[in-house]
Amino acid sequence: MSTLPQTRLASHYVVNLPEPDDFDFWREAARALVQCGVAPEHIAWVEPGGSGDLFAAAAAPGEQPLPLPTADARPVRASKRFVSLARNAILHSDPERFGLLYRLLWRLQATPRIMEDKADPDVRRAEELDKAVRRDSHKMHAFVRFRLVEAGDEESETREHYVAWFEPEHHILRANAGFFMRRFANMRWSILTPRGSLHWDGATMSEGPPAQRSDAPGGDPMEELWRGYYASIFNPARLKVGAMLKEMPRKYWKDMPEAALIPGLVAGAQKRESAMVEKGALEFEERPDTLAAIDKAIRACRKCPIGQLDNHAVMGEGPQDAALMIVGEQPGDQEDQAGRPFVGPAGQLLDAHLEKAGIDRRAAYVTNAVKHFKYVQRGKRRLHQNPGAKEIDTCRWWIESERAIVGPKLVLAMGASAARSLLGKTVSISRVRGAPIALEDGSELWVTAHPSYLLRLEGAAREEQTRLFDADLAAVRERLAELAG
Ligand code: URA
Repeated sequence: MSTLPQTRLASHYVVNLPEPDDFDFWREAARALVQCGVAPEHIAWVEPGGSGDLFAAAAAPGEQPLPLPTADARPVRASKRFVSLARNAILHSDPERFGLLYRLLWRLQATPRIMEDKADPDVRRAEELDKAVRRDSHKMHAFVRFRLVEAGDEESETREHYVAWFEPEHHILRANAGFFMRRFANMRWSILTPRGSLHWDGATMSEGPPAQRSDAPGGDPMEELWRGYYASIFNPARLKVGAMLKEMPRKYWKDMPEAALIPGLVAGAQKRESAMVEKGALEFEERPDTLAAIDKAIRACRKCPIGQLDNHAVMGEGPQDAALMIVGEQPGDQEDQAGRPFVGPAGQLLDAHLEKAGIDRRAAYVTNAVKHFKYVQRGKRRLHQNPGAKEIDTCRWWIESERAIVGPKLVLAMGASAARSLLGKTVSISRVRGAPIALEDGSELWVTAHPSYLLRLEGAAREEQTRLFDADLAAVRERLAELAG
């Protein structure tokens, strides 16, 4: 183990973190300290620019390295849940976060299941930090707006350069570099923030120092496009000023060209809503913010003809903080009767292949693109019917609501209906399977075939499709492990 640049003061240690978002550094130091039996109250964690800490302020130049664990020191225990939470929570701007996470790691050694105790104040605080960081990332994905600062020049092969200004609340910039790199892969862009900057030239990413708002431009022709787009998607029937401000706080407005339209659109909304109601086009109202509220709402949903049949809404099931969300098409006959997803033949096949891939279904949130069973009656039997594109699109509201609450890192869509529900357009499974697709909230979508499709095949075709299905699940399993750190 390398020597870390830390200070020892009497029985206290000061750990100077090189960067405020350096999880790996924190983890290495925390591991060594746990192995050496240094209790949380004897450590001060100091991030760059962060003073105000008693021990740190008193730190003398005659620094001593941290104690090194002996070769036979006990390995440090840390559950996957803790590691993934800590990796994200460490990006929070709360200066207490390093100490909090160390305390949790320390306590985990004696109480391995502590993360399951939702009433524990340390667990609760860590979850709050994690949630705030996710929310900040979500805002960044949604509200970063690039402006053209330099035209391209074919002769000198210079690309157009776009610059965005954003003010994150937490240290999320570096962690979100991959998202913007994938989404704007072919553009040359810079994201400037008061915490640092990112620069992508179409091939490499580099980091730069903190910037000021005046370093970023304020207006270009793209803004007209954004405004046009926003006006076209604006739905007056969904307008709830309070909810809108929560989702898109005013502080982001100044960097968003379309925000200039908001006052006018709000003023005109009342009139337009009445016109829509008259046309019978009124849409869903406020988004439910708990799974129980979604469950209740889908039972009453009659927005498409499927909800009018003699069936029951089937809600998704699984942990509310699942890293993996599995999405099928719609409940079948057995699921409709049991009120649970994937319990019939397709569910049994799915369970077997999940197990083979090493994916624990109980740790996943399992749901469907469409919440009601669509069928035609033939005598006593109810025969499955595929939902239409319009029905899937109408039901998207619910899956989006489930995703907003569960916040999975990875979504596995099985079959074309599920893929459409996640992407908003029809895709070919064979073209998109096997690689992640970035979703707008920073999670990843993986697409595979539906298990019912395998059930319908025979012979060599079934063998081949089963092999592909297993390969997709294995890739998902691997990716989940990577995401969990
Ligand atoms: N098929 C699905 O897509 N979902 C279920 O819940 C059951 C079968």
